[in-house]
Amino acid sequence: MGRLIVGNWKMNGMRQESRRWLGALKARLADPVPGVEVVICPPFTSLADAAEELRGSVLQLGAQDTHWESRGAYTGSISAEMLAEVGCRYVIIGHSERRRYDAETDEIVARKLQACWRVGLHPILCVGESTPERKAGMTVRRLGAQVRLALCDPLTHGPVPVASLTVAYEPIWAIGTGLAAAPVDCAQGLEAISAELKRLWGAEAATRVALLYGGSVTAANCKGFWTEGGASGALVGGASLDPEAFSAIALAAGKVAR
Ligand code: 13P
Repeated sequence: MGRLIVGNWKMNGMRQESRRWLGALKARLADPVPGVEVVICPPFTSLADAAEELRGSVLQLGAQDTHWESRGAYTGSISAEMLAEVGCRYVIIGHSERRRYDAETDEIVARKLQACWRVGLHPILCVGESTPERKAGMTVRRLGAQVRLALCDPLTHGPVPVASLTVAYEPIWAIGTGLAAAPVDCAQGLEAISAELKRLWGAEAATRVALLYGGSVTAANCKGFWTEGGASGALVGGASLDPEAFSAIALAAGKVAR
């Protein structure tokens, strides 16, 4: 398993801007970075342009969300089938901003994971504790519950292809704040996630799930998450909007052996 560096543009990138950022990124990452897969997740409106722009490049395309049904009366929604058709390979699922602003529950997250697997998309499940949860010493319990409910929802009962799952530990207090977790906090969070995966599927299967860290990742702090922090990659928000900073993170990942 190599390293995975994912850029989550969130609600940023008008179409022209998106093309400009991708052009700059392609120029900086013209050659494959050995052992590193780089994924960009633009907003829905830029996906078709991005697919065209990235064709033949080493960069992969991802989306930031999906609906759980394939089609139907779900005004404003986009299905996993549509994302696959436009050229996505990855989908971010259960980001804390969606849980917070779009009332996304663990049950919805579970269904969305199943929708990804239904069409062969690779989901990146986001979990993370809030500041009050952290202060109350509930981090391990919270992460365990989020992982368990996402993967064992009684309503979905679908199979879980472990090799096609990535889990990103994104402590809410570290997102967009400039206050990245310390590598030791990252290691503890990933350990809690890994322990829950082992409980669910056993040790061998759990090791096949890639674990990322996200939350104020920069070119300056990224290495610590992979060395001391034990993450196999990063989910990058703000710094992914700067092609120079994001490519520096991807290139740094190629220098830290797995
Ligand atoms: P920042 O890198 O801007 O903190 O965002 C992290 C994130 O939410 C990525 O999904």
